Amino acid sequence: MRPTNTLAAAASMLAAGASAQNYLGFNSGATLADRSAKFKADFKAEFTTAQNLEGAPGNFNAVRLYTNIQAYAQDDTPIEAFEAAIETNTSLLLGVWASGTDNIDREIAALKRAVSTFGTKFTDRVIGISIGSEDLYRISVTGLKNDPKGLGASPDVLVSFINDFKKAFSGTALGKVPVGHVDTWDSWTNGTNKAVIDALDWVGVDEYPYYENGKGNDIGNAGVLFDKAFDATVAAVGGKPVWVTETGWPYVGENWDKAVPSVSNAQKYWQEVGCRKLFNKVPTFWYNLRDSNPDNTMKFAITKNLSTKPMFDLTCPTTFDTPSASASSTSTATAGSSSATGVSAPSSTSTGTTTTGTGTDSGTGTTSGSTGTTGTTTSSATNPAKTAGAELSKTFSAGLALLAGAGVVVALL
Ligand SMILES: *[C@@H]1O[C@H](CO)[C@@H](O)[C@H](O)[C@H]1NC(C)=O
Ligand SMILES: *[C@@H]1O[C@H](CO)[C@@H](O)[C@H](O)[C@H]1NC(C)=O
Ligand SMILES: *[C@@H]1O[C@H](CO)[C@@H](O)[C@H](O)[C@H]1NC(C)=O
Repeated sequence: MRPTNTLAAAASMLAAGASAQNYLGFNSGATLADRSAKFKADFKAEFTTAQNLEGAPGNFNAVRLYTNIQAYAQDDTPIEAFEAAIETNTSLLLGVWASGTDNIDREIAALKRAVSTFGTKFTDRVIGISIGSEDLYRISVTGLKNDPKGLGASPDVLVSFINDFKKAFSGTALGKVPVGHVDTWDSWTNGTNKAVIDALDWVGVDEYPYYENGKGNDIGNAGVLFDKAFDATVAAVGGKPVWVTETGWPYVGENWDKAVPSVSNAQKYWQEVGCRKLFNKVPTFWYNLRDSNPDNTMKFAITKNLSTKPMFDLTCPTTFDTPSASASSTSTATAGSSSATGVSAPSSTSTGTTTTGTGTDSGTGTTSGSTGTTGTTTSSATNPAKTAGAELSKTFSAGLALLAGAGVVVALL
């Protein structure tokens, strides 16, 4: 909006980019499309495909998980993704499930068990940990509108979990791993959540322009909408590194306002958001390699059946259709003139707008989910899975692994 804001946003965006290695990976829930548990072989197949995708514009050798607990386990058995990661040399962004619970003891216990079982083969591969996933979204105005029964966690609860985690691993190998939290972009711009930002080493943002109804969310505008939300997040988090923890466009499913799912639109989104803005520039966990939620009509997978031949050509073009959002950041270094650029650049104008207006019209909010469960659920606003997930979470709220497992189904669409 104002040049000073633009420049500050641009500067912290550069800082964000520079302060973390630019990991590339996908998201991976604890369960398969039939709601059964994933085991080591399932994770290994995913990780192997991710690293061998034809035409990939980088090495997709990282993965984001939603829980440390193996699905079906009644105790603190570590998720078998850890062994699969060790055997495929995959970097791990760990997740601690934080909604619908008053403690993270089982998550911590599972992680400690993994550390004592696998040692540095495990800990050396852990690049980050997220305490929670979209918990703030689920208790936001939009989140509750989409799912009044959605289980989330308040900012003070998240902060206490973050502190619990740090205390549990202080002085150990995992004590050096940067701690973050993943949420929708308009959760980060909501000032009431600031204490969470202050408690973190990095911030994870989930962004789905597809679901930004009422904002001109056709594929041709997706890059612009993405940039607005990303820039608003960067501007809100005071220089903390921003990782993009979920983003993608469905290849099949219902239209969402002006957004149309198709393979060619999924490819366009890959190019205009992934290639132009994210890959090898910002730590990125794409949504997604495979679909796992049978209830969701929208499918986001980039491959069928874990084939290494994707549904569309993954190679990156050299020119893009999205107006240059990064003009303001690249010109930051040249001070004076850059402010003018910043003001006129589409994304910088909207940064201000979104920052002030987010809560009410947030598209990403609509996207997510609700299930009181893990992950994004991008689709759940109209999705029967939303309700199913909420019911599941209630039913199994005593069993965190099951809760997380049920959530992941919804999350993975
Ligand atoms: C394992 O992955 C890490 C991080 O990508 C890399 O630095 C290392 O060289 C890899 N090791 C092997 C044996 O491939
Ligand atoms: C802002 O965050 C608070 C705390 O998480 C939440 O209660 C509130 O509903 C949020 N505001 C909006 C507009 O969603
Ligand atoms: C998917 O892969 C599995 C295992 O390789 C195979 O049994 C199945 O036939 C494949 N399904 C399709 C639709 O290609």
